[in-house]
Amino acid sequence: MISAFEPYDLGGTTLQNRIAMAPMTRTRATGSVPNEMMAEYYGQRAGAGLIITEGIAPSDVGRGYPDTPGLWNDEQVAGWRLVTDAVHARGGRIFAQLMHVGRIGDPTLHEGEANVVAPSPVAAEGAIYTHSGPTPYVVPDELDEAGIAKAIGEYAHAARNAIAAGFDGVELHGANGYLIHQFLSASANHRTDGWGVTVAGKIRFAVAAVKATAEAIGANRVGIRLSPGNPLHSIQEVEREELYLALVEALAPLGIAYVHVNEGPELRPLTEAIRAAWPQTLLLKPWTATRRTDASDLHLLTEEVPALGRPVADVLAFGANFIGNPDLVERMRLGLELNELRPQLFYGIGAEGYVDYPTAS
Ligand SMILES: Cc1cc2nc3c(=O)[nH]c(=O)nc-3n(C[C@H](O)[C@H](O)[C@H](O)COP(=O)(O)O)c2cc1C
Repeated sequence: MISAFEPYDLGGTTLQNRIAMAPMTRTRATGSVPNEMMAEYYGQRAGAGLIITEGIAPSDVGRGYPDTPGLWNDEQVAGWRLVTDAVHARGGRIFAQLMHVGRIGDPTLHEGEANVVAPSPVAAEGAIYTHSGPTPYVVPDELDEAGIAKAIGEYAHAARNAIAAGFDGVELHGANGYLIHQFLSASANHRTDGWGVTVAGKIRFAVAAVKATAEAIGANRVGIRLSPGNPLHSIQEVEREELYLALVEALAPLGIAYVHVNEGPELRPLTEAIRAAWPQTLLLKPWTATRRTDASDLHLLTEEVPALGRPVADVLAFGANFIGNPDLVERMRLGLELNELRPQLFYGIGAEGYVDYPTAS
């Protein structure tokens, strides 16, 4: 009998349980550099089988929000070393989520006010929060062949830096409307060359980014997060099922550690189809309509899906309840109540709502 609370082998990395902390941006970096307070925050949550960090920019131009961290220079590597040491000292494992925001950024955040880059010169609808408040999304520069090669190289470079900083691996952010998802999307990718048009064209950037990262640090240390059906940041997918199954089938021979599905509403059938097509670990952030993921979802790790002959996922990710409960795993194991969340402090400055949530004991 599989238990959520027993160790799991993730591509050679032993997790102490099958519970992952989902990636969550918290805007507590010092500029783009991680700090002692972030080490304290992640160290407090080392009871997770796997911590996936907040989105980390692989390059300056790939950074989308003030006070979010990067992983392109030595100062950032040294800052992340504080974090990985704190987690490892308490028996945890930690992957860095590499998040290139593509068109979801703003020039005022970049050196020399460099414009944002994306598959096509199409702005997302809405506004982004910058140092001067909400600002409408700009029209991005279309990536040319050299720009695409550079962006792919930035994932590999940041992954090497992640290993130098002591991370156990990296997760490419292919979800939630950022660069990789923009290539997958009909609304953000209007290209007429080999990086668009067909399903094969639209998945090409994701596959190339994963391949370059796997070559840089070893496939068993690489995962990718996908969010089929998530319309965030003006994303529209066409031929969704075909798109994601083709992507997973193209990734399968690369032998990476996991695919992380951030499930969309009513899309369990697609999650199950991805599971059936994917030979390695499936990490799932299940869709929950009216509440945060909690202990009532743990059955997904143990309950066999008849059509699959096994459970739908190997590892389950929990988001906001990890913000509010540093000891979430212990609380779920013992059936204890959870702390009340303070969402107004999810993004912000300082220790309040960050490192001050109490443990049960
Ligand atoms: C404050 C906050 C920040 C988030 N930042 C990220 C992020 O950087 N990368 C990402 O892939 N998802 C991000 N997410 C989405 C979470 O990973 C997760 O999918 C979401 O919170 C739903 O899970 P839950 O119901 O357990 O909270 C964020 C969510 C929250 C609440």
